Amino acid sequence: MKSMKNLLGKLFLAPMAETSTPALRRVIKEFSPEVVLFSEMLSAGAIAARASHNEPMDRKYDFDDPYIYQIVGSNPHVMAEACAILSGKGCYAVDINMGCPNHDIVKRGQGAWLLTDLEKAKQIIRSCRKATRARLSVKMRTGWDGNDENNFVDFIAMLENEGVDFITVHPRYAKLGFRRTADWRLVALAKSRVSIPIIGNGDIDTPDTGIAKLMDSGCDGIMIGREAVKSPWIFKLISDLLSDRANDFTVDVRETFLRTLGYIKQYLPERLHRSRCHRFCAYYAKNVYYGHELFTMLRKETSICIMQKIIHDYFLRNPHEAVRQYQVKKGDMFEIN
Ligand SMILES: Cc1cc2nc3c(=O)[nH]c(=O)nc-3n(C[C@H](O)[C@H](O)[C@H](O)COP(=O)(O)O)c2cc1C
Repeated sequence: MKSMKNLLGKLFLAPMAETSTPALRRVIKEFSPEVVLFSEMLSAGAIAARASHNEPMDRKYDFDDPYIYQIVGSNPHVMAEACAILSGKGCYAVDINMGCPNHDIVKRGQGAWLLTDLEKAKQIIRSCRKATRARLSVKMRTGWDGNDENNFVDFIAMLENEGVDFITVHPRYAKLGFRRTADWRLVALAKSRVSIPIIGNGDIDTPDTGIAKLMDSGCDGIMIGREAVKSPWIFKLISDLLSDRANDFTVDVRETFLRTLGYIKQYLPERLHRSRCHRFCAYYAKNVYYGHELFTMLRKETSICIMQKIIHDYFLRNPHEAVRQYQVKKGDMFEIN
């Protein structure tokens, strides 16, 4: 039986530690208000302990709508407490991280390690489900050290039975990190085996691949991570293509760069400026021809004003790179320059 539950939208910004900052989220919303935003991964332990150092990361802004908080942890009671606290702030959903392969996370039995322990994962979902009336979701890899399709299907069936409202599938097993290409066949498999909505994620790097993966897998929504940091306007192009809106779209690459750094300054405390700017610049600088050199210069700096000056000077030297034009026409998209 197919579920009547629907997602609020089709387009999702991925949770990315230290990268899905309020600055990136605001810029993405300014290009495309329909995007559903994920927070950075938040430690359930820190949320439950109401640790003040965490406050800049778990703060929700007026542009964070619809918004999904992602938590990471392994203790069912602590996870439930974090769920209750975060859903009390008002959000579309709370998401449980079952995909992070980072060594520091998995050695604590968190993130993708939960894929190896179905009973533990079940306890976590059960206590979180009791703790919140908000939607509950899970973002997961398709396995720990291999893609065993039977295990994967059993795992997602367990999630559905325990009351999870939707699942994001990044179809690589955890030990692969980002190696090989995401196997979207497994997104289609998930879609055919559970009734709750499935969001597919992994390797969407152009509007066309996004639409092709959405259509081919039959999933309910697509999530974009790295490419959305490099091109925060990618969701706008996808929306235009999906709605067959004929549209000429000009993006000011230079101004978007400067504006995002400005928002980092506005929303985050000074101790986080350097790391968050560097995370953003590492992806965004790929938009320009001498991006590698530009990033090498930016990463030496700690002051946002100096970084903005370097960017300003770069575009004075390379004015033809400051603006990019797209033409979206009846299901086709052309980059004009
Ligand atoms: C810098 C960075 C940080 C990430 N942090 C998280 C995280 O906190 N939680 C999570 O579930 N996934 C995290 N991911 C994985 C992404 O959410 C996404 O699943 C992955 O990047 C694949 O999507 P993409 O090919 O569109 O980038 C992170 C990825 C990157 C590149």
